[in-house]
Amino acid sequence: MSTLRTLSRYEETYRIIDMKALSISGGTMEVTSGASIHGSLAVPGDKSIAHRAIMVASLAPGKSLLRGLPDGDDVARTVCSVEKIGVGIDRDLPQPENNLVQPRNIVIEGGRDRMHPPSSPLDMGNSGTGMRLMVGLLSGFPWTVEFIGDQSLSKRPMDRIAIPLGKMGAVVTGHGGVGNRCHPPLVVVGGHLRGIDYAPPEPSAQVKAAILFAGLSADGTTTVREHVPTRRHTEEIFKIAGIPVRIDGDSSLGRPDNIYTVSVNAAEPSPFIIDVPGDPSQAAFFIVAASILPESELYVGPIYLGQDRTGFIEVLKRMGADLTIDATGGELMPLGYIKAGYSRLNATKISAEEVISLVDEVPILAIAAAVAEGVSVFEGLGELRVKESNRLEGTAKLVNSFGGDAHVEGDNLIIRGTKSLEGGEVDAHGDHRIAMAATVAGLAAVSGDHSIVTGYQSIDSSYPGFVNDLSSVL
Ligand code: S3P
Repeated sequence: MSTLRTLSRYEETYRIIDMKALSISGGTMEVTSGASIHGSLAVPGDKSIAHRAIMVASLAPGKSLLRGLPDGDDVARTVCSVEKIGVGIDRDLPQPENNLVQPRNIVIEGGRDRMHPPSSPLDMGNSGTGMRLMVGLLSGFPWTVEFIGDQSLSKRPMDRIAIPLGKMGAVVTGHGGVGNRCHPPLVVVGGHLRGIDYAPPEPSAQVKAAILFAGLSADGTTTVREHVPTRRHTEEIFKIAGIPVRIDGDSSLGRPDNIYTVSVNAAEPSPFIIDVPGDPSQAAFFIVAASILPESELYVGPIYLGQDRTGFIEVLKRMGADLTIDATGGELMPLGYIKAGYSRLNATKISAEEVISLVDEVPILAIAAAVAEGVSVFEGLGELRVKESNRLEGTAKLVNSFGGDAHVEGDNLIIRGTKSLEGGEVDAHGDHRIAMAATVAGLAAVSGDHSIVTGYQSIDSSYPGFVNDLSSVL
């Protein structure tokens, strides 16, 4: 039943790849600098939207069609976990043929009536989003379910969902019990939930989503309050599936008095069709590469362009990047194309509020800052310590490994720009975004320098086709 591959997508794709600027052997990538970026590219479907679409479709009685899912391991785990609780998955659909690594089209046949407790633990692999959202969803079922994950996921904090879901009536117990040491494996005892009104202490779209998914099974209203809205994909997918969602509050950045609230009541989604838009977080690697590699020009899209995900575009524009945005519409989910060309960049300051809209783009923005004129400051990056790796320290190390000048001060990252980076050696520490940012840093080094990135299999979790896509525009 499980479709998790014995040979990983990464291995399938790359065992034979050896390109001019990029060469892979096992889990090690060797990068030779000196190339520029040209052409056009479509990135895989958005991971955050994909997880949510799969879960909402699983609750919808009938058939939903999901096109353009990204084919990384994280989303595959979510598909397998809903399949393990009785949701029907049809993967035998015509798949697009234009890419070596293909996005997936699937039909999901959902509905509460067909769901049953899984016969073994749900293994969410490396995916914090998959685990936190599935725990929220299954909190509303009168079952006991065990969740496990890989080494990195097993260190990630789950008290942030255990506490609010506990207030709703579920019992989520992890290693270390409930409290700030609660981490996977988790045991979730779900059941009769009641709605809560909750303001998460740390800004997190995953926490908001876990609570709202639980709210679909709760008595009364469930409300989440945020000072600055985190990505709104849960709200968007709920609306697409016909679930009434009430939203109040302004969304302007930097005004802590502006509370954004989202409320739901128990509801049954309707089946839907979705074309998952391209992932802006994956596009960011190419956009930064085109911005810092001389003589580059790249078109990328269509990607999701909602304001909670495009902070990195605003930051790059502020730094002087040559970007043109072609918004092509999309009523519930704004879409568009970006044209990026090389230009000299200047340093900038990124506030803690702004970080919420670019939380996954810090490693690649740090590479842009590393070659910019002046000192850049990224404020309020404490949450990066609990990502797939300690991404705050990892990003500083990444910049310094390539001859840059970065240090951490409290929760802030300070980067003094240098004219050019040097070839370097860095371990991705199991973190896909560090691996991809390191590849761009290697390309941006002094012409002809070689760089080594170890731990490269980590890209399998989100973007197995990254090297193919990058080499197609080099
Ligand atoms: C995500 C939310 C963010 C982000 C993660 C995906 C989501 O995490 O870093 O990659 O899909 O909700 P937090 O909720 O921890 O901020």
